[in-house]
Amino acid sequence: MSLGLRGATAFAPATVANVAVGFDILGFAVEAAGDRVRVTRAKEPSVTILEITDDAGAPFGPGIPLDPSRNTATVGLSALLEERRLDFGFEVSISKGIALGSGLGGSAASAVAALVAANALLERPLAAEDLMPFALLGEQAASGAIHPDNVAPCLLGGLTLVTSLSPFRCVRLPVPREILTVLVHPRLRVDTRGARRLLRAEVPLADLVKQTASLAGFVAGCYTDDLELIRQSLRDHVVEPQRATLIPAFAEVKAAALAEGALGASISGSGPTVFAWVASPEAAERVRHSMLRAFMEHGGAEADSWVSPVSEHGARVLNEE
Ligand code: HSE
Repeated sequence: MSLGLRGATAFAPATVANVAVGFDILGFAVEAAGDRVRVTRAKEPSVTILEITDDAGAPFGPGIPLDPSRNTATVGLSALLEERRLDFGFEVSISKGIALGSGLGGSAASAVAALVAANALLERPLAAEDLMPFALLGEQAASGAIHPDNVAPCLLGGLTLVTSLSPFRCVRLPVPREILTVLVHPRLRVDTRGARRLLRAEVPLADLVKQTASLAGFVAGCYTDDLELIRQSLRDHVVEPQRATLIPAFAEVKAAALAEGALGASISGSGPTVFAWVASPEAAERVRHSMLRAFMEHGGAEADSWVSPVSEHGARVLNEE
């Protein structure tokens, strides 16, 4: 029973958006990292940020606004407060486990964790899907655009395909059980707002044809467990070529992944993390090492790496007070 709770802490996972074939509509949750947000009740109906730390509890460096009207974790809370006409407010402590500008859905994770924690304090909590519009406000504050491809899997878990933004509709796609994701994050920052600005507004018809074939082939491959079809389809003909220069040695890192048997490799969200899909734990280790080596040798960048299945689990409440 949530009535009377003083506070709650929620965790929201890192996510890979776009997945090469579904710019702004496709994404999946991973077990790599995540953000934690503690929300406690305040007397006045307003939102305050108490602190922002890293996941070890140290103060988080500059780069995240403390002003609740500009912070991705809190803009959704203010809208929730207003829409539900709540007579109490929220005090928020954010613990960032996802590096800023990493392409792993950090802004979505903060927004979603804050909403899931706050939702636990409501007398009549909303269904997870109904938190979507509020979480999207956080994404808008972060990148200037409403894109649901991180928020949907972050909130709901799994591999999600958003088929409509308004009204929000989304399908959870099956993932062949062998699939593992390799993630390699060079310690650099890419600003999503800037990475969106550099995209051309128009897509040549020939690229549209190739891209729709890739998306359709990928979805069909997921439904039929056809790894070869996924291998043929996991390609981005539109966005990746325009953003590749944002990531040092992207071409070499991708080639290293494919040479070691990855089904496909591309940019995670707006980067600089690069993800690869592989079909066995052995392939995952080979691909991970060769991507790390390529980043180091050709890009001169230290990198962090993870291997994770597509996580079934979206954001969840960790504890209630
Ligand atoms: N679809 C978004 C983009 C994801 O690529 O700009 C950002 O994480």
